[in-house]
Amino acid sequence: MTYINQLSNHENETVTLKGWVYNTRSGKGLHFIELRDGTGLCQCIVALDDVGEEIFEATGTLKQESSAEMTGKVVKDDRSVGGYELHVTDVNVIQVADNYPITPKEHGVEFLMENRHLWLRSRRQWAAMQVRNTIQFAIHRFFQQEGFIQMDAPIFTGNAAEGTTTLFETDYFDEKAYLTQSGQLYGEAMAMAHGKIYTFGPTFRAEKSKTRRHLTEFWMIEPEMAFYDLDMNMDLAEAMLKFIIKTVLEEKSDELEILERNTASLKKAVEETFKRISYSDAVDQLKSDKTAALLDRMEEERKSELATIKSELEEIKKEHGSAKKWRKAQIDQRIKEIHARVDQIQEDLRNIPVWKKSAANFQWGSDFGGSDETILTMQYDTPVMVHRYPAEVKAFYMKRDPENDKLALALDVLAPEGYGEIIGGSQREDDLETLRSRIKEHDLPEDVFSWFLDLRRFGSVPHSGFGLGLERTVAWLCGLSHVRETIPFPRMLGRLRP
Ligand code: 4AD
Ligand code: MG
Repeated sequence: MTYINQLSNHENETVTLKGWVYNTRSGKGLHFIELRDGTGLCQCIVALDDVGEEIFEATGTLKQESSAEMTGKVVKDDRSVGGYELHVTDVNVIQVADNYPITPKEHGVEFLMENRHLWLRSRRQWAAMQVRNTIQFAIHRFFQQEGFIQMDAPIFTGNAAEGTTTLFETDYFDEKAYLTQSGQLYGEAMAMAHGKIYTFGPTFRAEKSKTRRHLTEFWMIEPEMAFYDLDMNMDLAEAMLKFIIKTVLEEKSDELEILERNTASLKKAVEETFKRISYSDAVDQLKSDKTAALLDRMEEERKSELATIKSELEEIKKEHGSAKKWRKAQIDQRIKEIHARVDQIQEDLRNIPVWKKSAANFQWGSDFGGSDETILTMQYDTPVMVHRYPAEVKAFYMKRDPENDKLALALDVLAPEGYGEIIGGSQREDDLETLRSRIKEHDLPEDVFSWFLDLRRFGSVPHSGFGLGLERTVAWLCGLSHVRETIPFPRMLGRLRP
């Protein structure tokens, strides 16, 4: 058996492919079967003259997603998907599929989510999962090369890490246990044993946020480093992101093309230094005239684009009636694209006034919302690192800025193009008594944190770390508008199945 992504090693040889029928087309004495095998797509040409009547007929019964083996000669063809075709000499039908529910026509996203177990086979979904895998492996490579070891934090926990309101509670032999929101506190203990560690695991948040950025179950990568201050933490976050993006650009260019991802901004993120701004400067920027002007300009641009494509829509609809069959298909495709773009523009036009108001009225001391992040990042080409947030909006374990006690030595990395926060982190409070009083201030029970306080009793050192959200990173690199397409089986508000 040969895999489709290996065909370049088998030019002019006879090989057997095993896979599923992605698409079929038939002509006189010919069947064109697009076969997918999980590694790629290959056009298989089945000619009556080459295979004989019986096999030819059997091939004709193959509907979408039927499974089959195809044997034939590998022929280079630059116009063909994947660059090679198979000139088939034998076909073995494994199973003829029922009528497949996902057809090339447009489906609503709810329908596709209900059929997620099948939707995963579609080309764009396939490409996104391929990119996800490359990101995961790149993360491991980066940290291992940098001398980190992977250590796993528990998933059942006896206490909260990020605040008590977003915990999933479970029954642990008549005791309350919570699904972990973050491996960080355990990461700190592990860093005191091994110096530099990272966790890579699932995390759970019960917040009732129904947004394009929130899952209830997501994967987080959390490095934790002894003897690192906030600046070293930021250096590490930037180096890690650059390595991930560079790897994806190098190894997954075909997949990014399938996803129609414009890679210009990803290339910039690799080449240029990330801007670092303090929270206070970010607030000033948000409230500035420049930002207001930018939003006005954006509104004007959207309005004029809307007018342009609406008149294009009128034109091609008129043309449709008398168009030839091939042109009709082209027009149908374009109409679909225009509808999607119109939806997007109308959403922007609804949002912009809200964003403008929220930016202008922003109060120092609040946390940034999704729209504030979008506006901030619109002004930069690369990710932005915002540091030194008001301590009040951040977690109890963050160290305060020695220069200003109101500020926490926190760091968020905001991705451009509206993707927003992908990393949250900080330098940690390393003084026993200070941490103890923070736990009190936050109304947290000291007894469940006594082990965490021990880390400040026995060889306390300055240390830092951060958490990278895997799904938000996949969404950004793939250019996907919603995290539901970045994980095989998303769990979010209102979605537990399949
Ligand atoms: O900012 P967060 O809450 O930080 C922590 O959990 C820290 N304990 C991390 C640390 O310092 N070790 O979450 C970190 C990242 C966010 O920036 C975001 O990318 C992702 O996790 N994230 C989510 N992703 C999807 N759905 C959600 N509901 C998410 N909540 C956070
Ligand atoms: Mg955060």
